[in-house]
Amino acid sequence: MLLPIANVLDSAKLAEAQEMLALLTWRDGAETAGKTAREVKRNLQADLSTRSGAKLKTLLNSAVQQHPTVKAAAQPRQFSKLLLSKTETGGGYGLHVDNSYMPTGNSEIRTDLSFTLFLSPPDAYEGGELEIQHAGQAFSIKLAAGDLILYPSTNLHQVKPVQSGTRLVCVGWIESRVKRSEDRELLYELSTLKAALAQQYPAQSPEMLKLSRIQGNLKRRFS
Ligand code: NI
Repeated sequence: MLLPIANVLDSAKLAEAQEMLALLTWRDGAETAGKTAREVKRNLQADLSTRSGAKLKTLLNSAVQQHPTVKAAAQPRQFSKLLLSKTETGGGYGLHVDNSYMPTGNSEIRTDLSFTLFLSPPDAYEGGELEIQHAGQAFSIKLAAGDLILYPSTNLHQVKPVQSGTRLVCVGWIESRVKRSEDRELLYELSTLKAALAQQYPAQSPEMLKLSRIQGNLKRRFS
């Protein structure tokens, strides 16, 4: 499932993030790529160990990790460290699959889901679409600033060359409690159904209790 999620950063948080972005220092993104990805990665990555970097990291982490749709669709167990990526004219990131493991704190996570949170508006750059190969098709994705796309880390994807302007995004990875993408999708559908039915049925009704039991037991079975 490729899931776009709107307004992960509201306009106030986005403005705050963009202010801090201007204060960051950047280095060659190839330093953090895997062996094969290194050859196709042409971008810059922010140093998040500075004071503004750390502040921005906290803001972005809490916006992504607390988002109810991210929680429902990803069933997160752990999040990786975030990367902030800047791609300028001529830059891009050729077709690749993300590393199977990514660092978090002193350890690493298995990457089940990848996300890209767009930080610059689509009219700030030409090209630079995130193209994800999914179910035999290529999906081209360029979202509004503050919006996020969530997709399985198992998919090949690329960032098309930026023809002009600057593309700023935040990327990260999630280890899910539910390893299989199909199982996560079922749980997500069930959670949206539950939210819809909650408009009609009281929380303590037999229908809602039964649905909660099914949902809880599927989570146990899938994890
Ligand atoms: Ni990637």
